[in-house]
Amino acid sequence: MKIGASFLGAKNIPNVLKKLNVTNVDYIHIDVMDGKYVKKKIMPINELINIPYYTRKRLDVHLMVLKPLKLIDDLATLNVEFINVHLDIKDNLDKVIEKCKKYGIKVGIAVNPNQEIESVYPYLDKIDLVLVMSVVPGLPGQEFIPESIPKIKKLREEITSRNLKTLINVDGGVNFLNAKDLCDADILVSGSTILKSDDFQDTITKLRKCATK
Ligand code: DX5
Ligand code: ZN
Repeated sequence: MKIGASFLGAKNIPNVLKKLNVTNVDYIHIDVMDGKYVKKKIMPINELINIPYYTRKRLDVHLMVLKPLKLIDDLATLNVEFINVHLDIKDNLDKVIEKCKKYGIKVGIAVNPNQEIESVYPYLDKIDLVLVMSVVPGLPGQEFIPESIPKIKKLREEITSRNLKTLINVDGGVNFLNAKDLCDADILVSGSTILKSDDFQDTITKLRKCATK
């Protein structure tokens, strides 16, 4: 099980990124919000481009924005492994997928708690990852929505039955208790559970252990 650390809600972002850089966390999950897709507006591109000064980790970028297409050129200059966009954006999803692929960046589609998991099925063979939102996008520190667990299991079955390699990432409210129910995922994003702990490495190790079959 891989772990992505979200620093949404951190007071001192450079400090948190430096601390995460010396752990064995797999990805830094960056939440970008445009004030339209979600209420908050954070992490504009001029701030985002500073992140590699503080960490060498691969980046997992979660775009909670209506128009992600125009951000891809700048993101491609960074150490980006995944760009995740939502199903209900204003840009054409196929164009977003195509542009990310052109840069050799892996693409994820995020499915919100109020969206059926089946809505991502038509894209499964064109994308690299599904980001299953286990909270309503917009805020850190929310409670995990338990209905996400059967959604993840269903998605895993679909991926297996179609012999695909699409990865599953789970984002929101992940903690030591629910991680054991998330073994069907490939990656877990964790914000508050890591940030609120005294020892980042210890928390990352424990989360991985809880989520491993
Ligand atoms: C929610 C974000 C998540 C969230 C994760 O909009 O996409 O990445 O910040 O943080 P926790 O683990 O605190 O829910
Ligand atoms: Zn996120």
